[in-house]
Amino acid sequence: MQNNRLRDIFLKKKIDKNYIIRKAVPQDAKGIINCMQSVMNEKIYLVSEYYLLTERGEHERLKNPGDLTLVCESNGDIAGVLTIQRGMYKKNRHIANLGIAIKKDYRNKKIGTNMIMEALIWSKDQGILKVNLEVFSINVNAIKTYRKLGFEYEGVRKNQFIIEGKYVDDILMTFFTDTL
Ligand SMILES: CC(C)(COP(=O)(O)OP(=O)(O)OC[C@H]1O[C@@H](n2cnc3c(N)ncnc32)[C@H](O)[C@@H]1OP(=O)(O)O)[C@@H](O)C(=O)NCCC(=O)NCCS
Repeated sequence: MQNNRLRDIFLKKKIDKNYIIRKAVPQDAKGIINCMQSVMNEKIYLVSEYYLLTERGEHERLKNPGDLTLVCESNGDIAGVLTIQRGMYKKNRHIANLGIAIKKDYRNKKIGTNMIMEALIWSKDQGILKVNLEVFSINVNAIKTYRKLGFEYEGVRKNQFIIEGKYVDDILMTFFTDTL
């Protein structure tokens, strides 16, 4: 049931021909930094306000075969970046953490939904059983997107952040890949 529901979401809501979702290559380093920094500049969606890797550092990061970085490219611009970082140890190799950032002008066009679906399918193929993420409680659009895709609530860290002078909870969510 769950399997069919997810595939339906994926197939019905294909993004248009102006966007390509693909695995990142080292040459995307500059575009990825630009995309991440532009979302960080908004200061309300991501914990960090500065992307810490240099272009060379990002170039190296992209060579790590164990992790996945997807980009959404639109006319040569990197419009969105998704990362999946797998647990490094024997005890947590079965889990991964997902992060996603789409530039402001490209949001609400199904890019996020499609990128996450691709990432979940990749994770399942790699033998990853759980894909975790953390999201600010005020980020209702992101939470809506994750819920629609089948992510479950796992917990809440109360008052974990202060954003624009107000306490914000950290919402922990997970997707079990056996539901795909
Ligand atoms: C959250 C994010 C990844 C969602 O990706 P997206 O491409 O914008 O979202 P989609 O177009 O796939 O929309 C998915 C669903 O989210 C909801 N949604 C997304 N943006 C919305 C908006 N601006 N207004 C209302 N609903 C919205 C809708 O429910 C939509 O589903 P529906 O149209 O089928 O009802 C993207 O907006 C983003 O990167 N935001 C800024 C950074 C961020 O928040 N990162 C995540 C941190 S945990």
